[in-house]
Amino acid sequence: MSAQIIDGKQVSSEVRERVAGEVAGFIADGGHQPVLATVLVGDDPASHVYVANKLKACEAAGIGSVHHELPAETSERDLITLVRALGDDDGIDGILVQLPPPDHIDPDAVIAAINPAKDVDGLTATNAGLLAGGRPGLVPCTPAGVIELLDHAGTPLEGAEAVIVGRSNLVGRPLISLLLGRNATVTAAHSRTRDLAGVCRRADVLVAAVGVPELLGADHVKPGATVIDVGINRTDDGLKGDVDFEAAVEVAGAITPVPGGVGPMTIAMLMANTLTAARARSASRAAGQARDHAV
Ligand code: GUN
Repeated sequence: MSAQIIDGKQVSSEVRERVAGEVAGFIADGGHQPVLATVLVGDDPASHVYVANKLKACEAAGIGSVHHELPAETSERDLITLVRALGDDDGIDGILVQLPPPDHIDPDAVIAAINPAKDVDGLTATNAGLLAGGRPGLVPCTPAGVIELLDHAGTPLEGAEAVIVGRSNLVGRPLISLLLGRNATVTAAHSRTRDLAGVCRRADVLVAAVGVPELLGADHVKPGATVIDVGINRTDDGLKGDVDFEAAVEVAGAITPVPGGVGPMTIAMLMANTLTAARARSASRAAGQARDHAV
């Protein structure tokens, strides 16, 4: 039997419409228009496409945007100066520095310069720590999109066996915390895991986020499991996920395709995070004013 295909494009457009409605509501209630600042260094063609799509999504959601495009030879110090200035700018709610930067720039140094209240990628140590501690903060967009897809597919998470293959800061690690927060039993598998197929076959929820084309096949999937493929690998045969879709679709209960699965969710969750940051900044400003009046 063939699995239910989880349509990321459809879910993404539902989330974006929901966010657009909430942005309009926030403004109607006296809030300011949320504004996202994007920063792109260099001329990587894929990064240019990603950022252009993010800016288009902002416009459709009623979110303002300010785009900074810097030449490839920009120094790390100049980039950090810009990121700090955006962090101090009261007119900016979210900061997104498109990764990866050119080789001479240390991405960790740039991320460390992002104001955590505006860290809509959820990559700063502050937001990573809040997530690991099960406290509210800004959550990285791709893992947040994975949870949204699981909910859309109706996959129960409470008490479920979840196996995540991959332990990156952008996806695997935050997903461990998000799934734990939903009371799943979480296993993090990686390149040193013994008997990867055996571990994966335990999973009611299998998430592949390793960046190895078609690493997981039918042998890795428990019959009826929900399989979420985060991989986007450019190969000579076109775009491939980390899962051999044709094989896994025959065993899984539900599965995301590549492309058209997790990919479209990232931008939708970025819009949601920008609104969350705007709301939180507005609330903390109001609390500050109330404190000032009380003095
Ligand atoms: N490059 C690829 N994915 C991402 C992402 O989610 N955020 C940023 N900032 N850069 C990326």
